[in-house]
Amino acid sequence: NRSVDQISLRAHELLTKFYHHIFSHAKEAEQARSYLENRGLTKETIERFQIGFAPDSNELTTQFLQKKDFNLQELISSNVLARNDQSQIYDRMRGRVVFPIRNHLAKTVGFAGRSINELEPKYLNSPESALFQKGKLLYNFDLARSELKRTGQAILFEGYMDVIAAYQADITNVIASLGTSVTEHQAALIKRYVDTVVICFDGDDAGINASYKVAKLMKKAGCQVRIATLPDQLDPDAFIKKYGGKRFKEEVIEASSTYMSFIMSYHKREFNLKIEADQMAYMRLVVDEIAQLNSALDRDRYIRELAKMFDLSPDAVLEDVDQIRKKQG
Ligand code: UTP
Ligand code: MN
Ligand code: MN
Ligand code: MN
Ligand code: MN
Repeated sequence: NRSVDQISLRAHELLTKFYHHIFSHAKEAEQARSYLENRGLTKETIERFQIGFAPDSNELTTQFLQKKDFNLQELISSNVLARNDQSQIYDRMRGRVVFPIRNHLAKTVGFAGRSINELEPKYLNSPESALFQKGKLLYNFDLARSELKRTGQAILFEGYMDVIAAYQADITNVIASLGTSVTEHQAALIKRYVDTVVICFDGDDAGINASYKVAKLMKKAGCQVRIATLPDQLDPDAFIKKYGGKRFKEEVIEASSTYMSFIMSYHKREFNLKIEADQMAYMRLVVDEIAQLNSALDRDRYIRELAKMFDLSPDAVLEDVDQIRKKQG
């Protein structure tokens, strides 16, 4: 008797091949093929990430799995297939371009299906299960792992396509969370492999706000944190498509900000620094952020920067920072 996990692993392995085969050869995947071609993915990349297409039918996936000796009940209880209100069994990914999500052992444990016809949601992820815990997995971790170790640096993206576009441009120390915000568990996992993490989220407001949250989280996990910001509301995948990998490396990754300089400019957005009351409030916020830095060298550097910005004496800023640190113990 097979366990739910064994069924799920085997079914995901077979489905990865099935979807990929459909993508590569079926007439009905023509739109999917031109979709990825237009997005600039090469054949080699599609092979490497085993990208597929789920047939837009309720029977094909089911029949395929049944021929492989699964029964419907076990496929439903292991979350591989779904059942709707009318008791019809269906494939959640149907009609979508499918990105297999592999665990650290390179086994597919879930799928992300991207809609190619404006159908919502844009990405549909497999449901949470014992093997597919979104808060614990990192997309592309299995391929990136040795590169994380070798370079001591991880580039953390928001999206699957960002990882794939970077990887195609030979930037291989790249990972992403799975559509949820980054968890402490994921932060600790990243910290086990690298000292430095470059957070490279989308250039829109949502991306910038998420960068702030994740920067704090990664800092708390003990990483050196850098934050890359993208121009013109682009996301990494769009930047690479428009300007190429070389410029992405030089103008985005290498030009990324330090943790504190990002924090200092992030908070500026909330204030009008021409107004004195706003200046004071801003200073207090930044002093608070500086007080949270563990390294005395870091604190000294930003104390000087803040002092200079408002023409204060660094000693006065230091005094406030020290006071906060004492209170926090
Ligand atoms: P984005 O909306 O930035 O998508 O979401 P993207 O990665 O740039 O996708 P493309 O380029 O339009 O194809 C970032 C990530 O958030 C998750 C996915 O993990 C996605 O990669 N997400 C987004 C979902 O899980 N569901 C959604 O409907 C949208
Ligand atoms: Mn192939
Ligand atoms: Mn986004
Ligand atoms: Mn995006
Ligand atoms: Mn994108």
